[in-house]
Amino acid sequence: MRNLFFATTAGLLLLAVSTTSLRAHVGPHPSVHDTVAGVAERMKRDLSTNELSTLTPKKVEQFLTAREREILGTEHISFRVNVPVRVSVMRDVKLGDEPFWLKQRGFTQTSIIVKEGRNSFDVWQKDFAAGVVGLGIHAFTGVDNHYLVSLAPQKLGDKVEVTDLYPGQLRLAEFKNGVEPYVDQSATLQSVPPELEGQTLIRTDSEREEDARLINLFRWTQYVASEKPDQVVLTWSDEPRTSQTIQWRTSTKVKRGYVRYQKKSEYNRFNPRKPQVSNASTKRLETPTLVNDPVVHRHTAVLRGLQAGTTYVYSVGDGSAEGWTELSEFTTAPAGVQPFSFVYMGDAQNGLDRWGSLVHHAFRSRPDAAFYVMAGDLVNRGAERNDWDSFFHNAEGIYDRRTLVPVLGNHEYQGGTPRLYVEQFTLLTNGPSCVPPEHAYSFQYANALFVILDSNLDPAPQSAWLEQQLSQTKATWKFVVYHHPAYSSGGNRDNLEVRSAWTPLFDKYHVDMVLQGHDHAYLRTYPLKGSQRVAGPKDGTVYIISVSGTKMYKQEKHDYTEFGMTNVATYQVLGIQISGNRLVYRAYDVDGKLRDELVIEK
Ligand SMILES: [Fe+2]
Repeated sequence: MRNLFFATTAGLLLLAVSTTSLRAHVGPHPSVHDTVAGVAERMKRDLSTNELSTLTPKKVEQFLTAREREILGTEHISFRVNVPVRVSVMRDVKLGDEPFWLKQRGFTQTSIIVKEGRNSFDVWQKDFAAGVVGLGIHAFTGVDNHYLVSLAPQKLGDKVEVTDLYPGQLRLAEFKNGVEPYVDQSATLQSVPPELEGQTLIRTDSEREEDARLINLFRWTQYVASEKPDQVVLTWSDEPRTSQTIQWRTSTKVKRGYVRYQKKSEYNRFNPRKPQVSNASTKRLETPTLVNDPVVHRHTAVLRGLQAGTTYVYSVGDGSAEGWTELSEFTTAPAGVQPFSFVYMGDAQNGLDRWGSLVHHAFRSRPDAAFYVMAGDLVNRGAERNDWDSFFHNAEGIYDRRTLVPVLGNHEYQGGTPRLYVEQFTLLTNGPSCVPPEHAYSFQYANALFVILDSNLDPAPQSAWLEQQLSQTKATWKFVVYHHPAYSSGGNRDNLEVRSAWTPLFDKYHVDMVLQGHDHAYLRTYPLKGSQRVAGPKDGTVYIISVSGTKMYKQEKHDYTEFGMTNVATYQVLGIQISGNRLVYRAYDVDGKLRDELVIEK
């Protein structure tokens, strides 16, 4: 879902360096990933904080051994040619002196420029004999557009044949106007210079621009873990009426975790009973590029066999008498049908301290809200733990008292997979088998069904499971939550795969509200059915987009827009009333001012 030639979200090679014992590379290609991970480890060991935070491409290059320089200069892309060729490497001019290997390995700059929109690529050439050609990494900064490669025979009349193309996902094409230069993007190049036209283009993988990122890679957290538990967060990984999942963090000095809990009514007696104790499972969470706190312990306890609709008090600790946190509390979901309310928020992502004010305001003004749904992009840099540390810090005092229902946004996928999200939140695993566990799930709360989907992954395969959830429920109210909106509040940001795979099911089973994020501009659509406006919410589904952080996008008026706002961060409280079967939906800004309201009656 990225646009060609526009700034890309900064990803990481965290995955590559996230294992302490790196697996040896097997096969004919010494791994760029392993080499970069090794360099990163050595940098962390040998360089000062100041040196790590002021790295330049030149300094990185000087730090490399001759062998590392060789691998990073030849093993990113390789292939075999049948005849002598002239190789052209087209390089984003914004890269300055990068990549280091171009000049060093004898490429010379030509006067040819490839232009595309706002971007220019300069062209570097070198002659190679028939046989294996190896090209190096994109850049130590990991930014800007990945370079392109074209090949021409040195001898007129020779026909170039390319074999053993590595990595395997790369493809060949004729270099001409309208060609798709990247294998992972559908955008096209509209102006191929006559000097290169008709040559053999190696279509590269734009996602691999970050493979050798060593600059701006290292991070420091403001919130270093200690022996005292923090980041206590409630989630559901089992039935919300009878279970509660509690997670927290400590330094690795704390080897075990326990939860002490009892019903609040029993605790409040003059002579309270002894609390029950539940063991937590303890796992290491490793983020090797977080220099000042690379490994912490995450503890997870799942309390089961609880009584529905009951408030419990609890504390977490290491089992020692002094190790317990102050008492906090949670309330299980009601056994039957009862009125309740919950909070829904769109992207927090940026300005987490401002988001902190908003969420604390929500908690103070609506303590009755039973749980908090966040429709993805909880943080901006989902692969970087310091961003998560800031998120948890700003949610302190709330998510240890109200269950968080998180959803995967694109920013949780930074670097390719949502590893930190999955490792930090223990969630329900009743989702479709076509997506990894915890990416999608569903639960019922009182008379409402909540279906959480992963819109980062292909929507169509998740549809069968979605239909099963919607068709089998007897719930009065149905809510579906995912990140990428089916109907955008901006221009050209609709997610047509989401719209075609899921909205017909929302129509068929009458989903009341769809809660989304991603667009950073508030939207409430008219009730829609078959993408058309219908008379009222009884006949169609209302789609919401909201944003709870500080990053804002423009609003564009669409046929389906009933109400939109620009530059307003909001939290939404959705109250389900039983008498009269009403849903009262309200959006509030950070000052607590009511900004939007809708009442749906069944
Ligand atoms: Fe997003």
